[in-house]
Amino acid sequence: MLDIAFAKPALPKSGALALLIHEGEKPSGLWAQLDEATGGAIARAFDVAEFTGAKGKTCVILAPGANLSRVLAVGLGKPAETTQKILEEAGGTIVANLSREPSIAVANNTLTAQQAAEVALGAVLRSYRFDRYRTKEKPEDKPKLAKLTVLTAEVPKAKAAWEPLDATAKGVFISRDLVSEPPNVLDPPEMAERCRKLAELGLKVEILGPKEMGKLGFGALLGVSQGSVKEPRMVVLHWNGASGTARKLKDKPVVFVGKGVTFDTGGISIKPAGGMEDMKWDMAGAGTVIGLMAALAGRKAKVDAIGLVGLVENMPSGNAQRPGDVVTSYSGQTIEVINTDAEGRLVLADVLWYAQQKYDPKFMIDLATLTGAIIVGLGHEYAGLFSNDDALCQKLTAAGQATGERVWRMPLDEAYDKQIRSDIADMKNVAGRPGGSITAAQFIQRFVNGKPWAHLDIAGMAWSTKDAPVTPKGATAFGVRLLDRLVADNYES
Ligand code: BES
Ligand code: MN
Ligand code: ZN
Repeated sequence: MLDIAFAKPALPKSGALALLIHEGEKPSGLWAQLDEATGGAIARAFDVAEFTGAKGKTCVILAPGANLSRVLAVGLGKPAETTQKILEEAGGTIVANLSREPSIAVANNTLTAQQAAEVALGAVLRSYRFDRYRTKEKPEDKPKLAKLTVLTAEVPKAKAAWEPLDATAKGVFISRDLVSEPPNVLDPPEMAERCRKLAELGLKVEILGPKEMGKLGFGALLGVSQGSVKEPRMVVLHWNGASGTARKLKDKPVVFVGKGVTFDTGGISIKPAGGMEDMKWDMAGAGTVIGLMAALAGRKAKVDAIGLVGLVENMPSGNAQRPGDVVTSYSGQTIEVINTDAEGRLVLADVLWYAQQKYDPKFMIDLATLTGAIIVGLGHEYAGLFSNDDALCQKLTAAGQATGERVWRMPLDEAYDKQIRSDIADMKNVAGRPGGSITAAQFIQRFVNGKPWAHLDIAGMAWSTKDAPVTPKGATAFGVRLLDRLVADNYES
């Protein structure tokens, strides 16, 4: 991970310097010193580039003098309109533009300690790389950047502000690592083992295998898993940050549930070959829950939280579940499996029922790469939000605006239920094309037993094919920051 430091403002003796500049700001502090030390090169470059500090605009100056290799100016826009998002994106822009530099100092004349830490967060998030399986990359092609020092007058305050953000970033990286792994490596047992390692953060980790889940009666989840030679797992992660491990729980826990299909071939209702490799990230909901729990533990959040993930592989085989099979879920409700590719809702059905039975949650939030239809509806900008609780929706929407991981509420309505009527069982697992994401949510709602609940369909958000300011292309870890913020703003005692 990119090494972050905070230090008092001083011109670096060599290397790279990034200047964060508000629109209309006049040179002062390090900016003025630098301009003087370079014989006015900075002012001339800004003039030539017409750089005014407008939001998102940059100006790179190579070898400007004063023994510096590069100076990068990043515009923050108008001071009154500076948001956390703008600061994070400035941090990300610095990393994207200066990755050839081993170390960078970041200067500004106006930011608070908290804002300085937010710049660092954006830088770290953008610096993520998954290069475990590259053995032949030339050193000159690898990013050199190892250290970023944010210059601020309030060093101890900035360090304190950075601590929780650092933990959140580490949670994001854990999630991105899981989602990036190829599906031959990250099968359900391996994913469970990686969860076990999180005990070192203070999480209590429980792992259930096929025998335990069979005894409980997880017919829906096990039906999905039965075509694969890989055993399924359910992992329960506990963080007792409010009550402590010794004392009795004071308050109901907040509960997060993730879909963890480590590879989704579709099963007997097999998917077409083109793009099927994308289905390695069909465990992203689980990846987010795991990263979130790591973030909460890492920053010692004052909350009692439980994360549950249902881990299966969906494969066709001689033992696979067939279209037409009827399974009995843990809730006792029966399901006619019309399409074995609508497997996520089957996994969630049993894990959600278990979660509400066992833990009496304050609320449950599930995350799942559930439907292609949500991508048709919302594209790659908003996750779909479905909920039986208006207040929870408002809080999630606010946390989404604050973190940039945005959600858009979609309807739930029993009028859709006729689409999942079955002639032979209590319901069927598919409902035809109209409102495909909604009927999936209606299905899931039958397994929350009336508890406060929200469902996030993250199929359009879990993976990105383009670099974004604080998210390099690939696994995004969407939801880690959103839910970490939801907890921080509303549920910490
Ligand atoms: N994992 C997929 C949904 C998905 C599609 C996620 C594309 C990310 C990108 C899910 O299991 C699935 O196959 N859903 C089907 C449901 C249908 C059979 C009712 C779909 O969306 O086509
Ligand atoms: Mn599927
Ligand atoms: Zn799936």
